[in-house]
Amino acid sequence: MILTSSMTGIASPDPLQHAFKVKSAPHAGRSGSRPVTVDDALWQQWWQTPTQADKRALYIHIPFCRKRCSFCNFFENGAKPERISDYMTTLCNQLTIAAQTPLAQSQPFDTVYVGGGTPTDITADEIAHLGRAIQGFPLVKNAEVTLEGRLNGFDDDKFNNALDNGFNRFSFGVQSFDTAVRKAAGRFDDKDTLLARLQQLSQHPTASIVIDLIFGLPGQTMDIWQQDIEAAMACGAHGVDLYQLIGLAGNRIDKASEKGKILGTDSSEFQADSQTRANMYAYGAKTLEANTLESKQWQRLSSCHWRRDKRERSIYNSLAKSGIEILPFGAGGGGSIHGHGMMNTRDLSEWHQAQAPSKEAEVNSQLASQCLPAKVPGMTLSPNPSAAFDAIFKRGLDSGVLNFTALEADVVTHLHPLFEAWQQHGLATLDNHCLSLTLAGRFWNVNMQTGLFEFLATNPIAEAKIAS
Ligand SMILES: C[S@@+](CC[C@H](N)C(=O)[O-])C[C@H]1O[C@@H](n2cnc3c(N)ncnc32)[C@H](O)[C@@H]1O
Ligand code: SF4
Repeated sequence: MILTSSMTGIASPDPLQHAFKVKSAPHAGRSGSRPVTVDDALWQQWWQTPTQADKRALYIHIPFCRKRCSFCNFFENGAKPERISDYMTTLCNQLTIAAQTPLAQSQPFDTVYVGGGTPTDITADEIAHLGRAIQGFPLVKNAEVTLEGRLNGFDDDKFNNALDNGFNRFSFGVQSFDTAVRKAAGRFDDKDTLLARLQQLSQHPTASIVIDLIFGLPGQTMDIWQQDIEAAMACGAHGVDLYQLIGLAGNRIDKASEKGKILGTDSSEFQADSQTRANMYAYGAKTLEANTLESKQWQRLSSCHWRRDKRERSIYNSLAKSGIEILPFGAGGGGSIHGHGMMNTRDLSEWHQAQAPSKEAEVNSQLASQCLPAKVPGMTLSPNPSAAFDAIFKRGLDSGVLNFTALEADVVTHLHPLFEAWQQHGLATLDNHCLSLTLAGRFWNVNMQTGLFEFLATNPIAEAKIAS
């Protein structure tokens, strides 16, 4: 049995700050898959075959932004109105075609996520068109339909068109409320503008308003973070995500740090180190969960997501971690079809060309005439044999509780040395039924997931147990 500190963390009097050195990656996972070529016959077969999945989602990608924010590398294309309108027309046509296929019709969808980029930057009419195209798919009653984006430019016409056409959840990147930190990060709007708009939107009787905050941004001191949490609790939003800043290669913060610079505010070049970020997470989690003000208590749904109102369900995020089927649409959209992981090309012209009724795209015109969505270039992977098994750990550790009832007793025994090391290092508590992550464990949960998959790769488990 091989156990390393990258799997177990290290013993420390303060595991929150020191169990691991740094957050390893935004998400954990192992693939166990290889790239596969999808020929036209297979593509047709996929769309004509009913799904085997019992839970499913749609992911629709809108790859446009008006500005490149310092911390982010999701910026793909500048938001030119004509470019967006061409894209939306093609995308909605593809959705309408896909919705009628045997694959789409075979089982209702539980949740739909329109992500980006900045989907809220499309026009009010485009939002209505997109909403109608989504409603062409069979959806479960009260399916969660999310529109992601930002508050700037999201006016009442857009909100009303979204609500009138089936959207019921809105996820806005706030990142920080602090005006100076926002300016340094390249964000529009000041704190008062954001608070006023969030308070208006949150008055809606049923729609769920969710905000993202990041801790660790340049110029964001602990004091500012505390004010961010206070503002998140006061702004009326029904849910909040607290994300640790991840160093993403190629973003402006990363490029500056390569030159030894911090893109701080006019008055501060402070940037929280890993230990301070751990304290920021702990402050946010404890403050949200404090039950001194009963009516204001927030409920934790995962290690980084809390809600204060039951209308917020976070179905997409939770199911995505369970490895469900997610049909992907749009340039840069990712998901899976019949167990095959898929990532569509991010290249807009390549994406458009794939659906153009030209000679080069003869095959795709054939597909259109058979009422099948166009085959878009990109990456397709063979089914991962351990996907369902791995999802139990991803979802369990992300939620903070890994329940052993979902696992065979032998698997729990095999993993016991790792679980015990986590307990000794203050990351989890262990009993016969489950492993519960401590606050420190929840902060380091992605490292723990990565460590668990490393443990399984180094100390393999019988394949039969994975498959069962
Ligand atoms: C794909 S972005 C879309 C956000 C939206 N376009 C906006 O302007 O706020 C979704 C979320 O990813 C998070 N994110 C982006 N870059 C990040 C980073 N480097 N570290 C942690 N979270 C990040 C942000 O909180 C952001 O709200
Ligand atoms: S935070 Fe949003 S607007 Fe800014 S670059 Fe990322 S996706 Fe684009």
